[in-house]
Formats: sequence, C-alpha cells, structure tokens
Amino acid sequence: MRTLHDIATLRDTLDCERRAGRRIALVPTMGNLHAGHMALVTAARERADTVVASLFVNPMQFGPNEDLDAYPRTLEEDQIKLVEAGCGLLFAPYTAALYPNGLDAQTRVRAPGVSEGLCGGARPGHFDGVATVVTMLFNLVQPQVALFGEKDYQQLAVIRKLTADLHLPIEIVGVATQRAEDGLALSSRNGYLNDAERATAPALYRTLLAAKSALEAGEPAPAVLDQAIATLGAAGFSPDYVELKSAELDPVTPDTVDAVLLAAAKLGPARLIDNLRVRLGG
Ligand code: PAF
Repeated sequence: MRTLHDIATLRDTLDCERRAGRRIALVPTMGNLHAGHMALVTAARERADTVVASLFVNPMQFGPNEDLDAYPRTLEEDQIKLVEAGCGLLFAPYTAALYPNGLDAQTRVRAPGVSEGLCGGARPGHFDGVATVVTMLFNLVQPQVALFGEKDYQQLAVIRKLTADLHLPIEIVGVATQRAEDGLALSSRNGYLNDAERATAPALYRTLLAAKSALEAGEPAPAVLDQAIATLGAAGFSPDYVELKSAELDPVTPDTVDAVLLAAAKLGPARLIDNLRVRLGG
C-alpha cells in the first residue's frame, strides 16, 4: 500500500487506475482506525477494484474548544491495519495541502436543513467542515463509491445531500455501526475514557435499546425521550440530546413509520454518539 501526501501524486496515481479501467472506492477517515473503519474497507473492497482510504484530522470540523489537538494521530498503526484490510492506497495530506490559504479564506460547502439541530446544534459549523472536506476529497479522488459509518447518522445524511445537490456521480454507502461486545459503538473517542467511564459507556446503547422498545410498543415519544435523558443523567452522562426523527431526519409525524432515535452525551472527556432505527406505528 502506498501512502501519498501530495495532491499531484494522488491525481497522477488515480489517473493511471482509471485508465486501467479500475473502479475506485473512497473510505474517508480521521485515522486512529478501529474495526468500524475496517468494516468500511471490507465493504469498499466488495464494491471496487481499488480502495483509497484518506486520513486527515480535519481542523475545519472541530470547534474552538473541542479535541483537535488531543485527537489521536497513529499513522503507522493505521497503515498496518489498512494493509491487512486490503486497502490499496492511503492519502494522508498535510493541512497546508488542503487549506493552503488557511481556514478563514477557504471556500466552504454547506448542506442546509440536514446540518441543523442534533450534533449540528451542539457543534456549530461542524457539518460545514465535514461537508467541505468530503467534497474536496470527492473532487481529488473522484471515486465511483464512497463509504461512511452509520454511527455518524447525521453526517451520512449531510454527505448524501451534498452528493445529490452537487450532482456528484458517486454512490454513497452507509455501513452498519460496529460495536464492542458490551454494545458500545466503536469510536476513536472511546480511547479518551478511563476504566470507570468505559464501564459506564455501554449504558448509552442500552438506554437507546430500551427507548426503541418503548417506542415500538406505542409509548408516547416525549415521555420515552425524557426517560432516556434521565437514565443517561443518572448513569453519569451529560446528555446533549436524545431525539426521535424520521429516517430522513425530518420531524416525526403521525404517519412516520421509519424513524431513527439519536443520542449524543458527554462522559468524562468523551462526547459519545449513537443511534438506532425504530419502526413506528406497528
Ligand atoms: O467521520 C469522520 O471520520 C470524518 O468526519 C470524515 C468523514 C473523515 C471527514 O473528516
């Protein structure tokens, strides 16, 4: 597997792949790879001849008081994992290559509507940063298919919208959330948890499971969501939100059948997110 840091070499390399008729898949990441990322690479290999992973801790998607500096940078371990998973190429640009004029001067991409509320409410500007860097990566790699984890449900919706709105000829594939044995959704940020916090963390998943059961049994959503927030608080989390939306992230109406229950909560130094699909009206 080659690791490329500069844009010109990436473009030349991928031009060769395209001329050879190879179908290209992109797996964008911020590194510190875990089994969730490996599932993306595996799904990419099933859909393309050449798998390109990107590794870039994107400063534009971090707020001023967030964990940009603390975010784990583990390039060598990541390279080993990607080789083992069958990734063909790693694009690991430096910040100056993607944002040569600095963040303030950078043209931005914004997906209105779907970027608002939920994590977009708790992290202003976050999804503009995600949308901008993903659009840039799409333009640089020009993949036929790109893969993202369903754990970041709102992010996936933002990426689907920008791809459709900008008429990008890229298939967007969501890959199921990978979980530890105790149910905790895998995330690079789980590494911030100490032993006690790590033991508490699966309560987020368990709380969502209980809320899903209650909603599918026909209990009223406001009471179920309030109960979930109270449960998380009692377990030691500081919940940002627990919300029920349609699968497209619109408000739930009496006609909504396919819904999604989404939560974000801080636990010690980590902000954890998770979601579960819910079938209403049954
Ligand atoms: O999900 C992530 O790791 C990041 O938000 C992404 C999609 C790589 C953009 O920086």
